Order: sequence, then C-alpha cells, then structure tokens
Amino acid sequence: CNDHRVTIIGAGNVGSTLAHRIAQHNLANVVLVDIVEGMPQAIALDLTHAQGLDRHNRQIKGTNDYADTANSDIVVITAGIPRKPGLSRDDLIQINAKIVVEVTQKAIAYSPDAIYIIITNPLDVMTYLAWQATGLPPNRVMGMAGVLDAARFQTFIAIELGVCVTDVRALVIGDHGDSMMPLPRYASVGGIPITELMDRATIERICDRTRHGGAEIVNLRKTGGAYSAPASAACLMVEAILHNQSRLVPASAYLQGEYGLNDIFIGVPTLLGCQGIEKVVELNLTDEERDALHASASSVRQNIDRAGVLLGNCS
Ligand code: APR
Repeated sequence: CNDHRVTIIGAGNVGSTLAHRIAQHNLANVVLVDIVEGMPQAIALDLTHAQGLDRHNRQIKGTNDYADTANSDIVVITAGIPRKPGLSRDDLIQINAKIVVEVTQKAIAYSPDAIYIIITNPLDVMTYLAWQATGLPPNRVMGMAGVLDAARFQTFIAIELGVCVTDVRALVIGDHGDSMMPLPRYASVGGIPITELMDRATIERICDRTRHGGAEIVNLRKTGGAYSAPASAACLMVEAILHNQSRLVPASAYLQGEYGLNDIFIGVPTLLGCQGIEKVVELNLTDEERDALHASASSVRQNIDRAGVLLGNCS
C-alpha cells in the first residue's frame, strides 16, 4: 500500500466524485478542501462509511485548513462556480479567476513539490493563472479537459457505429470551449480510421455533439454541469502520474514553440508520467487544422488577458 496523497480543492460535484474514484481505485489517500465549513468533512465521512463496501482502505479527510494538505503528491483544483444554462465557460472568468489564484497560492505554500491538475473552467485560462500562481516549471501544471472531451467523442462514435466503446480511439485538441477540435483523422475503431467507416456529414454531427457535450448536460440539469465523466477523466490522469504510466493523452499543456504557439496552455497530446507533462507530442496538422488551433489559442489568449485585467494585474 503506497502512501500517496492527493488533495482536491473544491468538494462539490466534481471534487467529491473524484475523491470517490481515487479511493475506489486504491490510488491514494485523499484530502478534500472546501471553503464551506463542515461540507468537506461530511463528504469525507460519508465516503469513509463506504470503505468496506467499496473495498479499499484509503483515508479520506475533509477540511477547511490547508495545513492538512501538506506534502501532497498531486493537487487537483475544482474550486469555483460551475456553468448554468445560457452561461458559457468564458462567462465564469471573473469569479473563478480570483478563486483559482487564491486557492492555488494557499496550496503551493504547503505542497511546493506537487503536480497540479486544474479542472475549474474556463479550463485553459484557469490553468495558466494557476501555473503563474505556483511559480512551478510548466510540466508540473496541467488542465484536465482533453481526456474528457476525447471520451465524449469516443462514446458518440461507439453509439453511432454500434461498436464496443473500448475499441474506439479518439483525440480532441484545442481549447476546452466552443473552438475545441475533435480530430476525425486521428479517430479509429479497431485501428480503422473513422473516415472509412462514416460519411462526412455523420462525422461532422458527432464532432459538433462532442464540442457541445458539456452544454448538453448543463441544459438538461439546469443547476450545474457534468461531474461523473470529468471525475473519471481526472482520475485517469492522477493514476498516470502516480503510477508513472507514460500515458499518451490530451491535456491542457504549456506550449513553448510547439505548434507555432508560445506562452499559452491549450489542449494537445501529451505524455503523462511521474514528472507531469513529460512531452508535448506534435502532430502533423493540415493547414486547416493548424489555423483552427491558432484561432482557438487566440481566444484563450484574449481571455488570459481579460482575466489579468480583472485580477488587477495588467502586466
Ligand atoms: N475555496 C475552496 N472551495 C471553494 C472556493 C474557495 N475559495 N470557492 C468555491 N469553492 C467550492 C464551492 O464551495 C463548491 O463546493 O468549489 C466547489 C465547486 O463545486 P460545484 O459548485 O459542485 O461545481 P462542480 O460541478 O464541482 O464544478 C467545479 O469544475 O468542471 C468545472 O465548470 C466547472 O468550474 C467548475 C468546476
């Protein structure tokens, strides 16, 4: 039994579900932090009551005190407000930027060697702000979105073709917003590119549903967004890091010239292991795909600048 520790800041829907996943998979002890008093303690206690049923012996601690998070291997940030119908992820900037910077500064004081995974939206912007707040090398900070978006793409392909979902591979890059880029050229079923299995109109319909996969859930639930698949996606990243798996997965990663982009976090294929983002994998994009990625990056850049102004940091 290892003694890894994962801190999750924000014990709401995503955070509490992720705590459950991590414990059930026996990956690490979990510290759940929230600003609301009593709430993370209650959730931790509830999850602990299920230990025998879930068959793990992981400790789950709920707290409002960052001292309890000391020396975490991974810190996951979900604190903030989720989307409601009519609100885009970008509309959340003003509120979430302040929260993310504040909680990251508190966490880094106790876990200076951790790897940070950001989930709060708008994802790529929040990941950039969190990275700045940590002062860490960029490979130790990343955003969780691509694993989730690719899982949605994978699911919709499997449903459309009536095939086993585990035979489907799919990739989504770009920002975790309206200009995210499902890549049909890099999607396959049992090794066969989906471009040989479906016509263009069907593929475009599936890509569109992937792009709006989060909004589809927000519009149905009305009081918040998705949390089950996001928690599973984050759990996969936690496992890849703690078990040094060198998983090739899309994540919001810091670019330093890759894809012709600089000083930005955006979704790209990465190698994920115990050092965090061990490599950004560069694809041979077509001109059209490259233009779309650059347009996506421009919208992230605009929102980073906007967040900087809102935080009173115009430098
Ligand atoms: N410090 C700690 N926790 C905070 C703070 C703060 N300063 N501000 C808010 N929180 C907590 C809230 O109290 C709440 O419990 O963050 C939690 C957010 O949980 P939910 O409202 O249930 O939202 P959730 O669905 O989990 O989404 C969280 O992930 O996918 C993204 O868009 C989503 O940005 C949102 C985030």
